[in-house]
Amino acid sequence: ESSKSIRLKKIHADAAQLYHHILINTEIGEEALNYLHERGLSDDIINDFNLGYAPDRPILEAFFKERMVDQELLRMSGLFVERGDGTLNDRFRNRVLFPIRDAQGATIAFSGRLLQKNDKLPKYLNSPETELFNKRKILFNFDKAKSEIRKKHFGILFEGFMDVLAAYRSGVKNGIASMGTSLTNEQIYLLERTTDELFLCYDGDKPGQNATARALELLEPITKLKLGVIRIPEKLDPDEYVKKYGENAFEKLALTSHETKLAFYMRYFQAERNLANEEDQLAYISDVMQKLAGVESPVEQDLYLNQIANRFSLEKDSLKLQLLEFINKTK
Ligand code: GTP
Ligand code: MN
Ligand code: MN
Ligand code: MN
Ligand code: MN
Repeated sequence: ESSKSIRLKKIHADAAQLYHHILINTEIGEEALNYLHERGLSDDIINDFNLGYAPDRPILEAFFKERMVDQELLRMSGLFVERGDGTLNDRFRNRVLFPIRDAQGATIAFSGRLLQKNDKLPKYLNSPETELFNKRKILFNFDKAKSEIRKKHFGILFEGFMDVLAAYRSGVKNGIASMGTSLTNEQIYLLERTTDELFLCYDGDKPGQNATARALELLEPITKLKLGVIRIPEKLDPDEYVKKYGENAFEKLALTSHETKLAFYMRYFQAERNLANEEDQLAYISDVMQKLAGVESPVEQDLYLNQIANRFSLEKDSLKLQLLEFINKTK
């Protein structure tokens, strides 16, 4: 490891401690601390994740100057934006900060959330790509989650950091999130070395469900991970679900409401259709059969063939013919 990256990690560790201190011990951090408490995060979780607060005025440059840190290194850290005159200003202002750690637990970046909605500013702001931080390679919370993923034999992929934290406080500690993008090959590789199964637990709203369908399509051809879905009802996201129904309810959901890919698709294809209408019925059956054509296990195929045959009072033989057609088309 280069001495530069060691020094950049030290900068991040120090900044994280400073931001955390401001959050929990100072008056400036009080509003942010109240915000996190209102979102259901206890002091234990805030400490476990070393959450922090970046106040609305510059603090970092003076802090690091006092510690004799080289200006050029500060520039490379991503924690600053350059002013017109070349001086450094704090990148994160008036945001709750989530330290982003690498697989070994070293803080290498931050993501900051606004306390209040502001149409002019992004809700979440991430560190830029730096020598330490390549967002394609990082899974939020992987360092903490990896042993639990091994133990449980599956990981759970969430959309947001808040969802990972909500799961964690519910006792579901095998949760991870990407940095607001779809999974990359590098992230898949991390997971494949750790487990053989991954559940997607995205938001229950329409964008979240669309993202689930997209992720399944994207992942299927490139991973040997077994993929499944954990469905959050009522268009909630996992964090909102925990708030509404409690930690125990979420833990139960995360352990038991596992959908196969096909079960997900059957629900997903139904969402925008009126299955009392025959045209919609046929389109629905065709969509499902196309997905079923990609299922390798003959038993699993049979299970869903039976379901569809029964549900729409169809002959299984005609469904099988249709299935064969789709299978030949994909070959
Ligand atoms: P909360 O409102 O705090 O509960 O966040 P959320 O996780 O529910 O947010 P949302 O479902 O809108 O987005 C999911 C994830 O996408 C977030 O956790 C972020 O990683 C990412 N994201 C959301 N908004 C932004 C943004 O404005 N900028 C960037 N870079 N990422 C974002
Ligand atoms: Mn296993
Ligand atoms: Mn969303
Ligand atoms: Mn969300
Ligand atoms: Mn949310």
